[in-house]
Amino acid sequence: MNILQVNSSARVEGSHSSRLASSIVERLRATNPQAALTVRDLARTPHPVLDESGLAALFTPADQRTPEQAARVAQDDALIAEIQAADVVVLGVPMYNFGVSAQLKNWIDAISRAQVTFSYSDKGPEGLLKGKKVYVALTRGGKYRNTPSDSQVPYLKTVLAFLGMSDVQFVYAEGLAMGAAAEQTALESAQTQIDEALPLPA
Ligand SMILES: Cc1cc2nc3c(=O)[nH]c(=O)nc-3n(C[C@H](O)[C@H](O)[C@H](O)COP(=O)(O)O)c2cc1C
Repeated sequence: MNILQVNSSARVEGSHSSRLASSIVERLRATNPQAALTVRDLARTPHPVLDESGLAALFTPADQRTPEQAARVAQDDALIAEIQAADVVVLGVPMYNFGVSAQLKNWIDAISRAQVTFSYSDKGPEGLLKGKKVYVALTRGGKYRNTPSDSQVPYLKTVLAFLGMSDVQFVYAEGLAMGAAAEQTALESAQTQIDEALPLPA
């Protein structure tokens, strides 16, 4: 089994979402000790934004790309290869200004490639990243679960399903900015959600 962990906090140190993602991975490895783990830490290794030169690189045929364009596409290729190889994907996802971090959006833009991770036919879109289980550890300063202000969960469900990944389980740590007691309660609750989702072998 191949596990891909994607940390999308801007913080290398002290990130609750990265720590919860690691906790999910720990539980997965408890039941699958042979599992291989790839960690893509987007704070440690920021991925470039999809800007005009990035788009131009992607839309230039491979044999006509400049060395710079080839290198830019290769950066996205590396992320695509990681997710293609993964059986289980674990995302650490902080809420930033009611959305996902720019780091996560850059990763999503990188892995979403026509004819590679999704395709269109007369039947509509088809996701090509199939057969994967996804866990998402969400961290928020406030509390937005099941409210219209939670744009993260509908967005992630939509884009992951578009790419073929519809088996997605969310773990919530909410109220992290609401005082020390609320923070502790939120982190304990998130750990309980993880423990229940991934029971240890008897
Ligand atoms: C730039 C920034 C924007 C944030 N925006 C929100 C927000 O819109 N709603 C919210 O509930 N918390 C917000 N927070 C709080 C974070 O979601 C919270 O601190 C979370 O733990 C960050 O994830 P991390 O610990 O993995 O870095 C924000 C934090 C930062 C740094």
